[in-house]
Amino acid sequence: MTTVRVNASATVSIETSALVIGIHASPDGPQTAPGADGLDQALGGQLAATLTAMGFTGKAEEIAKFPTFGALPAPIVVAVGLGDAPEGDYKAETLRRAAGAAVRSLAGTPDATFALPAPSATEVEAIALGALLGAYGFSRYQTNGQRKAPVGEVVVLTEAEGAEAAAHRAATLAEAVNLVRDLVNTPPSDLWPAKLAEIAEEAAGKAGLSVDILDEIALKDAGYGGIVGVGQGSTNPPRLVRVAYAHPEAGKTIAYVGKGITFDSGGLSLKPAASMDWMKSDMGGAGAVLGAVLAVARLGLKVNVIGYLCLAENMPSGTAQRPSDVLHTYSGKTVEVLDTDAEGRLVLIDGIARAAEDAPDLIIDVATLTGSQIIALGWRTCAVMSNDDDLREEIVEVAQAQGEGAWGMPLPEELRKGLDSPIADIANLNPERWGGMLAAGIFLREFVPDGVPWAHVDMAGPAFNKGEPHGYTPKGGTGALTRTLFGIAERYAR
Ligand code: BES
Ligand code: MN
Ligand code: ZN
Repeated sequence: MTTVRVNASATVSIETSALVIGIHASPDGPQTAPGADGLDQALGGQLAATLTAMGFTGKAEEIAKFPTFGALPAPIVVAVGLGDAPEGDYKAETLRRAAGAAVRSLAGTPDATFALPAPSATEVEAIALGALLGAYGFSRYQTNGQRKAPVGEVVVLTEAEGAEAAAHRAATLAEAVNLVRDLVNTPPSDLWPAKLAEIAEEAAGKAGLSVDILDEIALKDAGYGGIVGVGQGSTNPPRLVRVAYAHPEAGKTIAYVGKGITFDSGGLSLKPAASMDWMKSDMGGAGAVLGAVLAVARLGLKVNVIGYLCLAENMPSGTAQRPSDVLHTYSGKTVEVLDTDAEGRLVLIDGIARAAEDAPDLIIDVATLTGSQIIALGWRTCAVMSNDDDLREEIVEVAQAQGEGAWGMPLPEELRKGLDSPIADIANLNPERWGGMLAAGIFLREFVPDGVPWAHVDMAGPAFNKGEPHGYTPKGGTGALTRTLFGIAERYAR
């Protein structure tokens, strides 16, 4: 695991395997950003000319490495583009992405020192977080060392007040996000519901949380028809995990509910093979909930946070639920299952109904819920729907501040009718394909008790990066929404 520390030494005298500096783009060519003071002089005043000769412009996340040939204790310098120089403060996300891109380019290097602009604790946290998230790699299943080891130690150069605490916060958040990434990346043969529950129990226990786990028998006895119905086709039975963090001075209680389908084959409404290969990521919502609650506990926020992980494996078999089955859900409402591939909403409604019993000030569910989310907003932007306009905007704002793409979406009343069932209280599928993400949100809303502020975040695309790494985001599991859920908790802390 990559570690981080801060150091107030001068850039030019630091002993390090690689020195990372920031470069701005400007009409006059690349310009050195603050933090790299004295470096150009130490290199004979040739920095800008050399970068220009290399074709380096300073655009965001551009990388160039060059040797120092003994002019500095650091053998190499890594220039990372920061884009245009800001008018005022640096955007945290610019620094996170730059640090992430730089650290990724340094895999195989034992340590790296970041001489990026870090005038205050805010920038220190952003640089440290970007570097720790960018250094992530998942090599557990690679036996012959084909992947270079990530940078082992990150050093942030700064004289800012509170730098140590900022680095500690970054390390705590990165640990949470990287745990979620590990869980998403772990193949479903090694991560079934009971196993994920066990991992959650162990991590939560260490963080001082209280943990309750309902197994398939307890779920059945207590009437969790949604979770039981989705899980009954698998030889790996379902679980509902409740992790709770309480602070004696808390004024608010927040409940998070995460979709935790450890593998989504679609069930009897089987997915086509091409849509199935990355469905190990279908527990990304539950992962984010776990990661966020752990980070809240480790940093001791003054707020109560309860997380529900709704865990099941959606498989076809002789015991699987059938299209046209009717489920008796925990809320008391009945649901006709028209499509067993619309399983996420079935486990979530049981989690939401259970969460409401805790009388929280708000409930947020997070889920890789619909392909329609990807059609609507693409791979990097989550959709936020809510019964409360202020809550929706608040979540979007917090997510954007964390550099997690999010956008508000409506819950159009006219889509409710499409969920009518001839034999049950509601159907789990709107036969109309258009607006599928919104119809899913409307379905969930039916299970939120009156007067409870609730939001639903669809993260089908952002949970898993099928493309190339970028910024501090690796290929595969991204840990998306973990930091946003932490950020919401922070807002409600006092
Ligand atoms: N887990 C999927 C949604 C998904 C799709 C996540 C792509 C990540 C990437 C979900 O359970 C699902 O199958 N949704 C269906 C719902 C439909 C049957 C109403 C979908 O979106 O096609
Ligand atoms: Mn599905
Ligand atoms: Zn699913």
